[in-house]
Amino acid sequence: MSLQILMKTYQERVDTALETCLPVSTIQPTRLHEAMRYAVLNGGKRVRPILVYLTGHIFDVDPKLLDIPASAIECVHAFSLVHDDLPAMDDDDLRRGTPTVHKAFDEATAILAGDALQTLAFYILTQQAVTIKRLEMIEILTMATGSRGMAGGQSIDMQSMGQKLNIAELENMHIHKTGALIRASVTLGALAAPNIDDVLLKKLDHYAKCIGLAFQIQDDILDIESNTETLGKLQGSDIAQDKVTYPALLGLHGAKEMANSLIEDALKSLNNFNEKADPLRWMARYIITRQF
Ligand code: IPE
Ligand code: IPE
Ligand code: MG
Ligand code: MG
Ligand code: MG
Repeated sequence: MSLQILMKTYQERVDTALETCLPVSTIQPTRLHEAMRYAVLNGGKRVRPILVYLTGHIFDVDPKLLDIPASAIECVHAFSLVHDDLPAMDDDDLRRGTPTVHKAFDEATAILAGDALQTLAFYILTQQAVTIKRLEMIEILTMATGSRGMAGGQSIDMQSMGQKLNIAELENMHIHKTGALIRASVTLGALAAPNIDDVLLKKLDHYAKCIGLAFQIQDDILDIESNTETLGKLQGSDIAQDKVTYPALLGLHGAKEMANSLIEDALKSLNNFNEKADPLRWMARYIITRQF
């Protein structure tokens, strides 16, 4: 099976799961519920849920048990995008090819939709069957979302605008703002397995850390090399806002080399895994070859 088919299968699967988790827009408060649905059910590559399913696959976890962590992580991701696009942050008008939530609705609704999507994610995790390590999953997702994870990285991002960061500081920012949720996706998929060896978990975590950083480097590269139509978000937004990025620091060539070497490192970390880890290997390559 090709990665393209696998991705489509899991995109459809998580979309169905998300549809059932999200509040219907006919119940009060309808405007908020509509905005939450708009933020989530509007395409998106679903990279984080796919990583949950593909990691679970290594340990033969029934995909039905993965729908919950997969939906939860996508809700946190969607929340992070809604807030990232707000005027107080990146002030972007386009996301996934349609107006951002604060443009389609209003700023207050966008803030609240983000808040409510975040808490929905944790509510979803509480619905996991007791046999699964749901408290551990909640702990992983809270750490990845909060001030020591995504929100912390976003804070560094906002403070660093117009400043000079060195490469270690930039890496730290990217590992947090984007890497943390990608890393959590892989851990959540692994935690759904009944027993998981610590050594394997560490190898998977290293894989995820590398692809998470590479993911944001590719995002920075695409902001320069791609175009608004393909990206579904405004191309050139980083330069317009004087963001610190890998291409800004290392040049495009240097940024690409860095992303490549991270993917090689990620693949090495999977050396002791059998062919069931092949889709994760394909994902690693996809991260730096994707065009949007
Ligand atoms: C965009 O994430 C924000 C970053 C963390 C770089 P994605 O590129 O995964 O966005 P969607 O979900 O596919 O729209
Ligand atoms: C976003 O980074 C990271 C999070 C949303 C946590 P960017 O600001 O580069 O993402 P895009 O380019 O707007 O998707
Ligand atoms: Mg941003
Ligand atoms: Mg942004
Ligand atoms: Mg970006």
